[in-house]
Amino acid sequence: LKKSLAIETSCDESALAIMSMDSLEVIDECIASQIPMHQLYGGVVPELAAREHLRSLPILLKEITVKNNLSLSELSEICVTTGPGLKGCLLMGVCFAEGLATALNIPLFAVNHIEAHLLAPMLDNQNLKPPYLGLVVSGGHTELIQVNDIGHYQVISRTTDDAAGEAFDKSAHLLGFPYPGGASLAKIADSVDSSQFELPLVMKDSNDFSFSGLKTAISLMIKKNQERLQDTQIKAELCHAIQSSIIDALILKVKRAIKKTGIKKVAVTGGVAANIALRKAIQGLNVETFYPDFIHCTDNAGMIGFAKAVRTQAGCKDLPVTDVLARWPVEEMNFK
Ligand code: KG4
Ligand code: ZN
Repeated sequence: LKKSLAIETSCDESALAIMSMDSLEVIDECIASQIPMHQLYGGVVPELAAREHLRSLPILLKEITVKNNLSLSELSEICVTTGPGLKGCLLMGVCFAEGLATALNIPLFAVNHIEAHLLAPMLDNQNLKPPYLGLVVSGGHTELIQVNDIGHYQVISRTTDDAAGEAFDKSAHLLGFPYPGGASLAKIADSVDSSQFELPLVMKDSNDFSFSGLKTAISLMIKKNQERLQDTQIKAELCHAIQSSIIDALILKVKRAIKKTGIKKVAVTGGVAANIALRKAIQGLNVETFYPDFIHCTDNAGMIGFAKAVRTQAGCKDLPVTDVLARWPVEEMNFK
């Protein structure tokens, strides 16, 4: 049985997974979240995140090997996220992976973080096969991608500025929720069914997403209504309007893409895929819908190991680890 170790450190989660490469199953995985540390600063502090990865990775490796009674000599390869992400954070994962691969004398391969998010719905839904439309919505990425096949992607829409999760988190921050406030804002938003506030539907005429204008509109609205927002009902209504406006922007482009491509399978992935209102809106589109399990929506190493294994199985060329990349468009994964 061939086993691989997958490593993810692109942002504020250090994660490891042990993968069975033959059955494409995640044998076990573990994660160390850094959220409490970054909460003090209202967002991810890259330098602190990098140091924390360096501290966490050996602990996680010990934990997962002991728990699974696994000897490192049983590993036949290692794969690691090399981008896109925070360079200092990615470097910690890569250095750790390189040290281990050299010591064990096994090959090391690179994985694209967006491709991993994009394929994660297949990890938890064995009946999902390309072609499908993949909506990657996380704290760092917002892309609508046509998955024609493994290693054959066309980006239909991408954000020109903030990501959808970032729009949730920045709005939540303006309203005083602790970082990352997306899920808390969503919970309050779901406590009411309508809103007296109206926010603009942004980028109606473009293929792409943009959320920074929305942030400005929200900031102005909060300033204007400072006193009224002390009332919990009114605050909930504003949260509702914010959530609706982010979701409407996403749904508009998904609808268009379904019409244009004729593809009736939509897979939603990334941290924002946990959002209940988004799931309801997607449900209303009359297509087959797919989500990864919750643990595979947010950053994790299971999806990293899975992406590598699926690519190999599909005959894609293995990627060597050469550098870490802050930017790495998913179309660059398009070769066999
Ligand atoms: O995938 P992820 O861990 O991060 C990146 O890869 O960037 O996703 C985290 C993001 C955060 O912005 C968080 O606020 C958002 O996902 N998120 C949510 C919900 N749960 C997590 N946003 C809206 N509603 C939720 N229920
Ligand atoms: Zn991510």
